[in-house]
Amino acid sequence: MSSAVDLIIFGTRGDLSRRKLFPALYQLDRAGLLEDGVRIAGLARDDISNDEFAADIEQTLREAFSEANIDDESCERFCARLQYLYVDFAQPDQYSAIKQWLASDRIAIYYLATPPSLFGMISEHLAGAGCITHDSRIVLEKPIGHDLASSRQVNDAVASCFDECNIYRIDHYLGKETVQNLLALRFANRMINSQWDNSCVDHVQITAAETVGIEGRWSYYDKVGQLRDMIQNHVLQLLCMVAMEPPNSLRADEIRAEKVKILRALSPITAATVAEQAVRGQYTAGWVNGTPVVGYLDEEGSESDSSNTETFVALKAYIDNWRWAGVPFYLRTGKRMESKVTEVVITYKDPPHAIFPENEYVACNRLIIRLQPNEGIELEMLSKKQSLKERMSLEKRHLNLDFFDSSGESRIADAYERLFLEVINGDQWLFVSREEIEASWSWCDALLDAWKEKGVGVSGYSAGSWGPSKAEMLIEKDQCTWHRS
Ligand code: BG6
Repeated sequence: MSSAVDLIIFGTRGDLSRRKLFPALYQLDRAGLLEDGVRIAGLARDDISNDEFAADIEQTLREAFSEANIDDESCERFCARLQYLYVDFAQPDQYSAIKQWLASDRIAIYYLATPPSLFGMISEHLAGAGCITHDSRIVLEKPIGHDLASSRQVNDAVASCFDECNIYRIDHYLGKETVQNLLALRFANRMINSQWDNSCVDHVQITAAETVGIEGRWSYYDKVGQLRDMIQNHVLQLLCMVAMEPPNSLRADEIRAEKVKILRALSPITAATVAEQAVRGQYTAGWVNGTPVVGYLDEEGSESDSSNTETFVALKAYIDNWRWAGVPFYLRTGKRMESKVTEVVITYKDPPHAIFPENEYVACNRLIIRLQPNEGIELEMLSKKQSLKERMSLEKRHLNLDFFDSSGESRIADAYERLFLEVINGDQWLFVSREEIEASWSWCDALLDAWKEKGVGVSGYSAGSWGPSKAEMLIEKDQCTWHRS
């Protein structure tokens, strides 16, 4: 249960706050998971009254939820927690408004839904205004930097004001129920964990495909690209959850230490191997879900008729450790793909000896972990065909577990609901440590350097497809294919 906290949200009027933060806090309140005393301050530079702010948030909530998931009483109760504070983040003297509003007997949680370039400055001004005590917490949204050097600068600036144990770096994928379920699947089921290494697993695929384009963020995205936007954080976090050793417990330090080991064991993709192990793509015009969409260069806000920024990445990665030596991890993520799918697919090796001569193949067991949508697990198995004519013919069958259908819940909680609960409870287990951020940047930097050194350009792919044909070749040359849901 939550403690007495004050939540102070920087960037209150931004897209993230509207789409994710306030809706998540509202749902927690509605579910009775936000203690009565929790107060929420929204900070921005708009000249609006407290009532106007509350009315605006209420409207946002009503737009975000269907009637079944919002009601007048809880909406009123939630809005009564809200306080608007006019603060220009760049003006140190204006932080006194925060200081005055804070209560000395509560824990202050500063949530920075702002560009990372402001993290250091805001931390310093908070410190200067006396707003930080030994138990104040700070929550940082991604991206933390755009490479290892800049992430260190951001982390150093924040660390000069907050202890690492009070810094909560968000990767919202860790807040997803199904991502946490990877821990349950692996470490609560001995049967699965005992088959989880290079003696049994042939290869692993991790796909995070999106149908959306860049959603009006061209000028930001064009400096970033899909490797930094999705691989450096979400996809590598999924990889860690799949590959890490069993932690001693669910304590944050135990889990994060295991994840760091994986990130540090990732074999760098260098100029010598980049052609074999990495593909970059950029979408051109096409059709997504039956609707025509423009290509990346014609997106709203596009400032150029040429760009070498990738909207798609496919990689073949190796983890140099005892458990995973020699097992390829194929990672794939892209915008404007055929469908929205985030999944992990474990393909098992063939049995060591074939005793079914009537079958051309005896491959293969596959465990498909669907993270979104249709959250669940599917196990592909071979079983005997029911037939008198055929003596021992095998066919592929599927065991399917649908998490949502079997949960009895009316909706799946958003990742931010879980993350807010954890930060209010003061538990960092679903947040990313500085060491993790730095290890993942270090690996991504090597790949970016290799692309630069080799002058690797982007291969076009039609919006609504599964990426450039080179991505198919990346995996097919190993006699495998990408899993299609
Ligand atoms: C964000 C990226 O972190 O994650 C976006 O910046 C991306 O570009 C989003 O669309 C994907 O999140 P989800 O939860 O929709 O898979």
